[in-house]
Amino acid sequence: MAATEPKPATDTTDYGVGHVAIIMDGNGRWAKNRGWPRLVGHRKGAERVKEIVRACPDLGVRWLTVYAFSTENWKRSTEEVLGLMGIFARYIQREADGLSAEGVRMRFIGERSRLDPKLQNLMAGIEARTAGNTRLNLTVAINYGGRDEITRAAAQIAREVAEGRLALEAIDEAALSARLDTADLPDPDLVIRTSGETRTSNFLPWQAAYAEYEFTPTLWPDFTPQVLAGILERFGARERRFGGVKG
Ligand code: IPE
Ligand code: IPE
Ligand code: MG
Repeated sequence: MAATEPKPATDTTDYGVGHVAIIMDGNGRWAKNRGWPRLVGHRKGAERVKEIVRACPDLGVRWLTVYAFSTENWKRSTEEVLGLMGIFARYIQREADGLSAEGVRMRFIGERSRLDPKLQNLMAGIEARTAGNTRLNLTVAINYGGRDEITRAAAQIAREVAEGRLALEAIDEAALSARLDTADLPDPDLVIRTSGETRTSNFLPWQAAYAEYEFTPTLWPDFTPQVLAGILERFGARERRFGGVKG
């Protein structure tokens, strides 16, 4: 495999999208538009995740990665941060049976040591419980930042070299990929950002190097499986060249 060729998703359908990654943005504005507290928007957003997870397998999507909390989101008020952490914990507790029954394998990416130990335990627990599932791979990015992830991988490589476990000549793109949180994931085919913002906010910068991007004005709490299906259909018409030429 040429160095910059993306790792392929294991399965694709006619839409040709094996791995969809979503920057779920706009919860705060959705709530503000209704005069409600931001956390109401986050709770509605978590409901949307459930619906999208359920819809993915029938749309041919086998890998779904969602951005739930960035390394930069700690800048928000304590109330909002704690509220979000509570939503993550409840999601894991309430969805554990359903996810297992639906054949969903759940994983997390991001730096975990800064999270509440109870939440870390819930995350490890559901990862272990769903490890044998294969229908859909759901990955949730919590305290995730692409620069942080790459920095940690670089430090890991330096450690291995210093300890004599890795030769300098063995450092290539695959070696770095293998030390990212996403080591077991294929690269995303399509990155969707909701809420009309056209930036990537530190989400999967390495992995999405050749992904297609779709920016939709829909706020995340209004994002439905129908909106996703429409985006996937448009994706099918795109030609991905990976630096080569047509045909
Ligand atoms: C996305 O919604 C969720 C998180 C970043 C946790 P926002 O909370 O960023 O919503 P807006 O952008 O303020 O509308
Ligand atoms: C990106 O949204 C992070 C998540 C969706 C979790 P933000 O709302 O934090 O991004 P910025 O601040 O608008 O770039
Ligand atoms: Mg936002």
